[in-house]
Amino acid sequence: MSKSKTVYTCQNCGAQSPKWMGKCPDCNQWNSYVEETYAAPSSGNAARAPLIDLNPTQPQPITEISAELGEHISINMPELDRVLGGGYVPGSAILIGGDPGIGKSTLILQTLKNLAQLNKKVLYASGEESAAQIKTRAERLDVHEKSLLVVTENCLERILEMIRKHKPDVIAIDSVQTIYSQNLASAPGTVSQVRECAGQIITTAKSTGMACLLVGHVTKDGSLAGPKVLEHMVDCVLYFESDQGHTFRILRSIKNRFGAANEIGVFEMTGEGLKEVSNPSQLFLSERSQNTAGSVVVSSLEGTRPLLLEIQALVTHSGLGTPRRTAIGVDNGRVALLVAVLEKVVGISLSDQDIFVNVAGGLKVTEPALDLGISMAIYSSFRNLPIDHKTVFIGEVGLTGEVRAVNLLDLRLKEAAKLGFAHCFTPQNKSQTKNNIEGLELHPVKTIEECLHQLF
Ligand code: TYD
Ligand code: MG
Repeated sequence: MSKSKTVYTCQNCGAQSPKWMGKCPDCNQWNSYVEETYAAPSSGNAARAPLIDLNPTQPQPITEISAELGEHISINMPELDRVLGGGYVPGSAILIGGDPGIGKSTLILQTLKNLAQLNKKVLYASGEESAAQIKTRAERLDVHEKSLLVVTENCLERILEMIRKHKPDVIAIDSVQTIYSQNLASAPGTVSQVRECAGQIITTAKSTGMACLLVGHVTKDGSLAGPKVLEHMVDCVLYFESDQGHTFRILRSIKNRFGAANEIGVFEMTGEGLKEVSNPSQLFLSERSQNTAGSVVVSSLEGTRPLLLEIQALVTHSGLGTPRRTAIGVDNGRVALLVAVLEKVVGISLSDQDIFVNVAGGLKVTEPALDLGISMAIYSSFRNLPIDHKTVFIGEVGLTGEVRAVNLLDLRLKEAAKLGFAHCFTPQNKSQTKNNIEGLELHPVKTIEECLHQLF
């Protein structure tokens, strides 16, 4: 006879316990345990069967395995294709996460529209919106493709039934947190439901060659809601991000089994949906005022894409006992380190100054290649000396003030030359200073002191 079993599952990390607990011993989250009921399978063997039951395969010598991963199929949307490594791979699962209202459903619908135009059969299963709401969005996006099927459905079993019937090339599930399986008693969005539903859809995708796009919610702190296993199960994890008050959106790949991770695609949200931004450096530098103190241009590398960004620093006399250090878009600790290096190596005193550093445009960057630019922006604002607006800074700064090499310098220099920059301060590295880029004068420097001497 089948018996149901009650367990308590942490909604943050997926840990399970037979008793309720106030604090999860695994992830230290408070009040995250939720009661979940499983209907135990009637036969003992079935209980031990794995969730994903692929066709049994025999071991074979590694020399005989084909390296073909399956080819990428272009979506005809260069920014999305770039993030996915050239398009989608049949049979793969792609998870898209992002804050509410950022444009996940819009991106999905535009993707499906493009695929429908490429004669693919696509199915959009939404558990969040009514068909009329989807239609309203489709009208804004000018979607009139007959091969784009839409269904508003939350039940996993019925979605699987539809997949069997219509055999789509691509299915989009918006969102995986709203889908539930009838076999589980817990509410949609709980760890076990998300795991079970995503698992079943991914298994179906792998066995039929259908690609699936899963939309995932994010939690308050910005990570994907649901268990971490969700990220392990899919082939590709994309985050859709933006800064409040900005219309541009960045699609970033966190994991990609079929291409480079950390690649970014840039879009702009307009009245007619998402528009691709093929030259993001131009967008980020478009509002720059020329020859003002505290503003410099740096080069950051996102995946394999060089981006030129404006760094702004403001150094003003502080009326506070402990002066303020505020960094937006770059790491606070990194800025504190550069301030300390400037004080020690260059000999300026910043202990009575408020320092604000900002990446214009609202982008968040973690690359150390920005160091040289940030230090120069701080110095420029402190002394009130503008830096020539056709200058780019590239280089990591070490604790003794030395300027260290960065990777893929060539690529960054080419981007700077393309956008019409005339001077570039770079690290002094034998192999790297050979590069000769037309129209761009290179200034290799060993230390930040040397850089300051050449500048002012
Ligand atoms: P949506 O795709 O519904 O976001 P998500 O699925 O991530 O919650 O996008 C919602 C926002 O995008 C909403 O605030 C309206 C805006 N939007 C536009 O500005 N232009 C458009 O063409 C569309 C479709 C939406
Ligand atoms: Mg949505």
